[in-house]
Amino acid sequence: MKYKFPKNFLWGSATASYQVEGGVNEGGKGVTVWDTYYHSEDRGYTGDVAADHYHRYKEDIKLLKEMGHNTYRLSISWARIFPNGYGEINQEGLDFYNDLINELIANGIKPNVTIYHWDLPQNLLDQGGWLNRDNLKHFVDYAKCLFENFGDRVDIWTTINEPASEVMGGFVQGAHPPLEKNLAKAFQVSHNMNMGHAMIVKLFREMNMKGEIGIVLNPMPVHPASESNEDKVAAEKAYDYFTRWYVAPVMVGEYPKAMLTECIERYKSPIIEDGDLEFLKENKMDFLGINYYMRRVAAHNESGNYEKINEQFKFVKVPDGLYTDWGWEIYPEGLYELLDDIRKEYGEMPIYITENGMGAIDKIDENGEINDDYRIDYIKRHIKAMHKCIENGIEIKGYYVWSAIDILSWTNGYTKRYGLIHVDFDTLERKIKKSGKWYKKVTENNGLEE
Ligand code: BG6
Repeated sequence: MKYKFPKNFLWGSATASYQVEGGVNEGGKGVTVWDTYYHSEDRGYTGDVAADHYHRYKEDIKLLKEMGHNTYRLSISWARIFPNGYGEINQEGLDFYNDLINELIANGIKPNVTIYHWDLPQNLLDQGGWLNRDNLKHFVDYAKCLFENFGDRVDIWTTINEPASEVMGGFVQGAHPPLEKNLAKAFQVSHNMNMGHAMIVKLFREMNMKGEIGIVLNPMPVHPASESNEDKVAAEKAYDYFTRWYVAPVMVGEYPKAMLTECIERYKSPIIEDGDLEFLKENKMDFLGINYYMRRVAAHNESGNYEKINEQFKFVKVPDGLYTDWGWEIYPEGLYELLDDIRKEYGEMPIYITENGMGAIDKIDENGEINDDYRIDYIKRHIKAMHKCIENGIEIKGYYVWSAIDILSWTNGYTKRYGLIHVDFDTLERKIKKSGKWYKKVTENNGLEE
């Protein structure tokens, strides 16, 4: 075997509650910010049914098993457990996830559970959401409830999925709830999320939970578009903004200095209270989850508003680059560079690749098959890149394809497909794609032949 992986390596795929479950008004679930988002105006699709995983999880787990998975990453919907974000526990929500976790384990699939993947209970947003530091106590109570109820069977936990996307989607671009464009708020939210993460790590230790806990980030390598000094400065700024800003606080309890100074000068944000950075430092996680999709190439933004930290650079496409239908550059080489840079800058930390995959418009052929060779090629190239990381001493413990089944892509709806399993969104029928069948061989062989 040319690309053999370490013994006990975990092979699986991932989803997130809101993107697959549906059943938004069932089982006592409360309203989330995404329910509000899809229903406040017609966006052409909603998460009301999604892949109907809420009702079909047993069938889905059977298919995961058929694909040789030994792990699966899922997230829990806060509003199924606490419909208002806090207060009375909704037993039906606990029952649902208990059944789901038990079903996974019964099929030899290790659950990797994300506590928060963006589906904030609406009631908490009404009280300021992540901007209101008081809400962190509800986040901790919610995590405590999960640890108490599922901690005997779950031993890989992640606190938050991609704070960067929540911050940028929700508070910079105004594309995700709460649809704001306010950099001061954005930086405060990112600091508050880091504090929430560290509080949960602390709780995990205090409760003597078994297993390990980490966070999932989406850092990316950023290259300058040219050798010009201006482009190099732009790339450095973009790397601070997209990568260091999120990696540094959870790894070493610091923010990148130049960017922090600029944020405080320009936006008086984030407000970091006395003791916060020590708290981040003291409550160190066990692993770093990496969602890796692409690299960015940055150039000086001549039309930028330089007061705005995110307009001091712009992203450009490289002429010979390979891009997905959505313009995401396919650049597996960047994975080693990224992880190597992170360890050089912040020290060693075990890694899980918690998401990696290709969003595409899949076609069904005349025999009803989905021959997604492009996805096989994408995953194969990234598995090789991951192998290179391991050979060079980076500890990677598992790999999760995004996604297990076709999901609701937050702002792209149901046309951007990621799944190893196809979902017919009219009939909700499932079918393993060619990539799923191919991935089964990888998991069974614990590696790649070529
Ligand atoms: C990650 C998220 O950022 O990227 C997923 O964790 C998301 O929830 C995935 O679906 C792909 O993004 P998109 O916008 O193509 O759905």
